[in-house]
Amino acid sequence: MRPPAVVVDVGWVNGLAAIRSLGRAGVDVHAVDHRRSALGFRSRYARPLLSPDPQDEDAFVSFLESLELGAPAPIFPTHDEPLNAIARAGERLGERYLFPFPRWDVLSRIQSKRSQLEAAEKAGIAVPRWATTSSAADELGYPVLVKPSSTEGFKRRFGRQAFRCETRPEVERAFAEAEEYEPLVQEFIPGGDEELYTLGSYLAADGEPLGLFCGRKLRQTPPGVGTCRVGEAVWVEEVVDQGLRLLRELRHTGLSQVEFKRDPRDGAYRLMEVNPRLWQWHGLATACGVDLPRIAFEDLAGERPDPVSMNGRRRRWAITLLPGERPALQRPPYVDAVFARDDLKPALVQAARLLRR
Ligand SMILES: Nc1ncnc2c1ncn2[C@@H]1O[C@H](COP(=O)(O)OP(=O)(O)OP(=O)(O)O)[C@@H](O)[C@H]1O
Ligand SMILES: [Mg+2]
Repeated sequence: MRPPAVVVDVGWVNGLAAIRSLGRAGVDVHAVDHRRSALGFRSRYARPLLSPDPQDEDAFVSFLESLELGAPAPIFPTHDEPLNAIARAGERLGERYLFPFPRWDVLSRIQSKRSQLEAAEKAGIAVPRWATTSSAADELGYPVLVKPSSTEGFKRRFGRQAFRCETRPEVERAFAEAEEYEPLVQEFIPGGDEELYTLGSYLAADGEPLGLFCGRKLRQTPPGVGTCRVGEAVWVEEVVDQGLRLLRELRHTGLSQVEFKRDPRDGAYRLMEVNPRLWQWHGLATACGVDLPRIAFEDLAGERPDPVSMNGRRRRWAITLLPGERPALQRPPYVDAVFARDDLKPALVQAARLLRR
């Protein structure tokens, strides 16, 4: 018997895409979220399960422990907080779940931006110049970004991923505010958001890549430091090679996104970050023949699939409609993050929310 799958944090397009990938593959999908309004709950491929907030880590883990699944189930946390909570509870959950990410002793290092940068340097991969003290900002040249080493809690608290600072006093203030998140300061790599390249992959436990996708963002919201609004598939050998090299250095296995920014000053691809999980626009990889949730599911369920790489088409992905922003219509055919012919409700719900605004 095939196990079911569990997708955790289905509030937005990342979780929704995972639900659809697995559901279309005939997998029974439990969708877990602590918000009734979670978009993924509206998918016809999902069985909605309202959970405690992952911030209440013990209650959240107990909830997962109590689910009747019938067989050990692949579990797909789509954001850092539930991912870290689940990985930290690896022992408690290990009999009931199969994980597309490494054990916490390996993962905790990957979830530290400082360690990611150190690993990249060790592997000979270009990174933005960075430091762990605010006084070093002057040498980096403004603007700089002050970011947390661990993203847990930061985004919720400050409503952003990093502070962009133009002066030394701004850096001092940002460091003071972010103190408990082990802040670091980084030079801002010039160039537009279309210079942000991604390797998306699934690596089996023995390290073999079973799915490889490469693409770049075309637009972020908000621009500069934001999340993907429009993306495009494009294969760049250097991005794939150095991304894989970094994942090996970090001893990562499972699903991930490695993001680089192409530095227009010297053409080097500098590390932005590693996300050891599905990322916001992984639905584009699926549309390009690299269905990462499905690949991970099959591998974890003992049906190891043949390795696949992205096909050569320059497909696009977009969140066409967002409240308070102009539509990001692309020339068809392209993948919309919400609309799907075989699963209309999420788009209808989103449209109703837009109209209500
Ligand atoms: N040094 C840098 N130079 C230029 N842009 C940067 C730099 N660091 C981060 N960014 C921009 O900010 C975005 C988010 O930063 P980062 O990836 O570090 O945050 P995050 O909170 O881990 O994001 P995510 O939610 O995607 O995991 C990046 O995609 C990139 O556009
Ligand atoms: Mg991240």
